[in-house]
Amino acid sequence: MNVERWDGTRVRERAGELAELLADAVAGGASVGFLAPLGRTEAAAWWRERADATAAGRLAVWAAVDATGRVTGTVSLAYPDKPNSRHRAELVKLMVHRTARGQGLGRRLLTTAEQAAAATGITLLHLDTETGSPAELLYRSAGWTRAGVIPDYALSPAGELRPTTLYFKRLQG
Ligand SMILES: CC(C)(COP(=O)(O)OP(=O)(O)OC[C@H]1O[C@@H](n2cnc3c(N)ncnc32)[C@H](O)[C@@H]1OP(=O)(O)O)[C@@H](O)C(=O)NCCC(=O)NCCS
Repeated sequence: MNVERWDGTRVRERAGELAELLADAVAGGASVGFLAPLGRTEAAAWWRERADATAAGRLAVWAAVDATGRVTGTVSLAYPDKPNSRHRAELVKLMVHRTARGQGLGRRLLTTAEQAAAATGITLLHLDTETGSPAELLYRSAGWTRAGVIPDYALSPAGELRPTTLYFKRLQG
């Protein structure tokens, strides 16, 4: 399994494969910004917008590619455009295809993003994740600190309001 950093061109070229990951996460009930069912067309359009953000330097995208060339996971870092916030980034869209979960790939993607952030001088990462999700256990075991819970934060894919938990992690350069 290779974890590759993708530039805007690559994200655009492979938006369909990233869309498959996103649709699979939504179909599995993950709260990643969309309601179910999420169609491939809508998901691919969303990734093409991310390609623009990546080309503009507002987003960094990594993809896990297996030996057959299949995309099995992804993670992104979103950089704020405010001059007072250049030291931090938001970890977003950590997703592993349901067929590839439980083998350490989520942790590897998370570590990849954390190390890349630290290497570029980012000293603070933050994220939000649905309260009680398996992802919470991953973040906690990777040394992230729970900052608090916001009730009724977002709709689940099935359309029910759910709380989110905010996490942060300080990085050392
Ligand atoms: C969260 C997610 C990325 C984890 O990916 P993964 O490849 O299965 O994770 P790993 O195999 O690296 O597991 C890492 C840790 O996560 C936790 N974990 C992962 N899946 C879990 C589950 N179903 N139940 C309990 N803990 C789980 C465990 O602590 C595990 O550590 P361990 O193996 O030492 O016990 C994956 O479940 C996913 O894509 N979920 C849907 C999208 C999502 O919710 N993303 C987070 C948005 S903020």
